[in-house]
Amino acid sequence: MKRSFLKTGDGSITIHLPEWDEQYHSKHGAIAEAKHVFIQEGFNFYRLQNPAVNHLRILEIGFGTGLNCLLTMMHASDQGLEVNYTGVEKFPVELSEVKQLNYATQLNQPINDFEKLHELRWEQWCKLSDTFSLFKHKCDFSELVYDAQFDLIYFDAFGPRVQPELWSVAIFKRMFNALSPNGVLVTYSAKGDVKRALKKVGFTIERLAGPPFKRHMLRAVKL
Ligand SMILES: C[S@@+](CC[C@H](N)C(=O)[O-])C[C@H]1O[C@@H](n2cnc3c(N)ncnc32)[C@H](O)[C@@H]1O
Repeated sequence: MKRSFLKTGDGSITIHLPEWDEQYHSKHGAIAEAKHVFIQEGFNFYRLQNPAVNHLRILEIGFGTGLNCLLTMMHASDQGLEVNYTGVEKFPVELSEVKQLNYATQLNQPINDFEKLHELRWEQWCKLSDTFSLFKHKCDFSELVYDAQFDLIYFDAFGPRVQPELWSVAIFKRMFNALSPNGVLVTYSAKGDVKRALKKVGFTIERLAGPPFKRHMLRAVKL
């Protein structure tokens, strides 16, 4: 599918899919959205609830541009925490496309650190620092079978408008199984159908304030 580039409200660039009129991030700010939904309401919430945990196991559904991974790496390093990060992606972004994204510059990070996320091999653990390891898994979300292996899931698939099949009870059942007890899933969508599917598989749901110009988002906890 054709991909083009779009400058979002906070100056960070996202990928646009003209065929679906869909973006990888909010038009109002890619970095702002990622920080709010995944770092603040996901990572920080999990830590608040589990202050004794110094090593987080994170699963990202839709690795895409690697923005969430970069932000998590920066944040975990600031907090002195260890992270094992698994990113799942079926249609990887090409390195030539990565070079058009301005996240490293916007976040004051070395460009090489960002590009490296995309150059690393798939299907193996790669150590990016003493405290951060990344495993990129190239497959379809619907094939994932994990058993209580993760503390936190960043659910960042394309929206239910264009990929309703990825926001189904069947997929969320797999997400529920992938989490350890007290595990947390965060997502930018707060649609009623999404909420109902998450509840149906056993999650406890909270509807939270969304990132800039988006009213709500969801957090689901496996109690
Ligand atoms: C909203 S974008 C993700 C954004 C990503 N988290 C980021 O920050 O760039 C959704 C991602 O899910 C991927 N994707 C879509 N359908 C998929 C599927 N069935 N299995 C695996 N990945 C899929 C897309 O290629 C895209 O990278």
